[in-house]
Amino acid sequence: MLKIVTIIGARPQIIKAAALSRAIKNHFANNIKEIIVHTGQHYDTNMSQVFIDELGIPQPDYNLNVGSGGHASQTSDMIIGIEGILQDIKPDYLVLYGDTNSTIAGALAASKIHIPIVHIEAGLRSFNKLMPEEINRIMCDHTSTLLFSPTLTGYNNLINEGFETHNTRPYTADKPGVFHCGDVMYDNSLYFAGVAEQQSRVIEDNNLIKNKFILSTIHRNNNTDDPERLSSIFEALNHISSVEETDIILPLHPRTSKIIEQNLDKALYSKLIANPHLKIVKPVSFLDMIALEKNCSMVITDSGGVQKEAYYFKKPCVILRSETEWVEIVNQKAARIANADKELIIESYHRLSEDKNIKYPEIFGDGKASEFICQTMLDNQLS
Ligand code: UD1
Ligand code: UDP
Repeated sequence: MLKIVTIIGARPQIIKAAALSRAIKNHFANNIKEIIVHTGQHYDTNMSQVFIDELGIPQPDYNLNVGSGGHASQTSDMIIGIEGILQDIKPDYLVLYGDTNSTIAGALAASKIHIPIVHIEAGLRSFNKLMPEEINRIMCDHTSTLLFSPTLTGYNNLINEGFETHNTRPYTADKPGVFHCGDVMYDNSLYFAGVAEQQSRVIEDNNLIKNKFILSTIHRNNNTDDPERLSSIFEALNHISSVEETDIILPLHPRTSKIIEQNLDKALYSKLIANPHLKIVKPVSFLDMIALEKNCSMVITDSGGVQKEAYYFKKPCVILRSETEWVEIVNQKAARIANADKELIIESYHRLSEDKNIKYPEIFGDGKASEFICQTMLDNQLS
């Protein structure tokens, strides 16, 4: 029996973990035992437990309850907690998702005590080291034994950084296995799309009309913490929703809710509050999010995951960042980079609304990335 420890912590990791846990339950229950460690990076019910309950993820076996804090204190508390658990459990692999502080904490804890690391979402790069996520993902990739990239671009980024693709089993941290296997989030979106359609009431509850509203999310630290960028984004959202009379639903990340009033000038903040077309709501569950993505006309976001999900559901996307790791969707002309520039956001909204010829070829795999990952871990263990 292969024993793996999975680290979850931030919202997107909890959701991603559902895909692998489901693959283990359905196809590898006799071969793989998963132990889940929640770092506690996200802790509000609507940022954490809602996903565990809704997506059928087993309850975490451990919760480190680290909570919020500066990068150093948050990450170091996680490293200490994870190391202790790894020393007790002695798993065959530590499975890490994405690029958060929970990811890098796991990588540092495991690599020093020689627990092989599996990195899911390897190879993604923004080429912007001002992002904490860029540091986290580079460092995690370079300590990993099995690297699973969701896209060809990610796979090629790894090759450009010196990873060999002709290594053979058994893979090790010095001779890692690098794979382009598709995206576990695509597995999830396919799996949960039908369930969301049946169970979610988010469209009705928010008085939205199908295909006539925009879904927006904002939480990237360089947007929330910079008053100028945050104002520019909200001015654009206010313009699109009020002048263009298009409803926008904005499930707001707690990071943004906590700072919005302080970082926007009073006049703009009052306009937003009084604007009936801009519906600011609390973070929603994943099934509600999928229902919103499936039924909106466009997505405007700075989220990594939400840009990609827009593409899965064939919706154009305005990206509120200066670059993206998901370059395929921009090259495909399904998404436009507008940064935090009010005029560019409005122009991108118009251009994408008018373009009736956007194509969405399948570039995120076949919906079976999680099964491939499980099988590869097993094969490596047996060799
Ligand atoms: C983190 C990740 C980011 C990811 C995002 C997903 C890092 C460095 N960043 O950013 O890559 O895109 O998660 O959502 O790991 N807060 C709450 N309740 C919660 C969680 C957070 O109120 O349950 C508030 C706290 O004020 C906290 C702030 O949000 O200080 C930021 O949380 P944190 O986990 O540090 O970073 P995120 O911005 O969520
Ligand atoms: N998400 C959600 N509810 C929300 C906002 C986002 O379920 O209110 C989901 C979204 O569908 C995606 C993931 O959370 O799967 C993305 O997380 P987030 O935007 O917080 O982080 P990022 O992907 O940018 O790291």
